[in-house]
Amino acid sequence: MYRYAQKLPHLLRSLLLLSLITATSAQAAEKIDLIIDTDPGADDVVALLFALASPQELNIRALTTVAGNVRLDKTSRNARLAREWAGREEVPVYAGAPKPLMRTPIYAENIHGKEGLSGVTVHEPKEGLAQGSAINYLIDTLKTAKPHSITIAMLGPQTNLALALIQEPEIVQGIKEVVIMGGAHFNGGNMTPVAEFNLFADPQAAEVVLKSGVKLTYLPLDVTHKILTSETRLKQIAAIGNNASKLVGNILNEYVKGDMEHYGLAGGPVHDATVIAYLLKPELFTGRAVNVVVDSREGPTFGQTIVDWYDGLKAPKNAFWVESGDAQGFFDLLTERLARLQ
Ligand code: BDR
Ligand code: CA
Repeated sequence: MYRYAQKLPHLLRSLLLLSLITATSAQAAEKIDLIIDTDPGADDVVALLFALASPQELNIRALTTVAGNVRLDKTSRNARLAREWAGREEVPVYAGAPKPLMRTPIYAENIHGKEGLSGVTVHEPKEGLAQGSAINYLIDTLKTAKPHSITIAMLGPQTNLALALIQEPEIVQGIKEVVIMGGAHFNGGNMTPVAEFNLFADPQAAEVVLKSGVKLTYLPLDVTHKILTSETRLKQIAAIGNNASKLVGNILNEYVKGDMEHYGLAGGPVHDATVIAYLLKPELFTGRAVNVVVDSREGPTFGQTIVDWYDGLKAPKNAFWVESGDAQGFFDLLTERLARLQ
């Protein structure tokens, strides 16, 4: 093509060059500018390795941590471990809120272990935390970002973003979309009959985010409980044979046991990793735009997400609710990405 281009008149050549430059920058612009807010957590670490192995599509600006599955010092350590295991120490990790907005803190050590990471031995990573709090990082970044340019993946309680929105409501200008692992409708809850952990851990924060008017996508238990490990899928990951695949295999083998036993499932969900799969390949998932309300009143429905699936209320649609996903497609994508790591 370049050889023929030499024969074209000067103006035509310039136009061709300009269109090539525009096409290249359009491709670069298609990368998702991403902040991952997380409370690692076994499935969070799998999600982080998945995301950090996908630099072609995801421009990860930072990881921000929150108390959730375990205390903040441990979720922050585990996020730094995931970054180290992925060989991506250039990605900053900011620590955020040590407790929910209003409710008493709860943790999930019974599921994720005392260190928040089942099946592997933890150590103090070489690289430390970035200076400053996650809340200030979110405010500064989103306030000065190009309009609607930054996607936030929320893998834990939504406390950090809620605090940032309360302090500086105008940060919504920088947000393109918030993709949340949380909530439950058809499936029922995993903390109470109706509430899922991330919403139950800080329903007031989820309410703030819902009311902010930003574009929201929810990946609730409805979909994560349909994307389950199996012996074959875990063997598929083990067959990669690199360090990342060994870590993920060890983490998942331990992590899925509890859910398999409790729910009588043939395999276990990898909740938070579905958010990353959704960002990379939304065509693997189906859902619909709905009206969602979070119940933050004390009582048996505390933390419940009330979803108007059939539009009975004719209320404004404030979220896209993912209901189903291609389980084998998810594990194929995860395997392909883990194979890119050491
Ligand atoms: C969610 O709760 C946490 O324990 C997991 O990390 C996931 O984010 C699933 O309900
Ligand atoms: Ca999580």
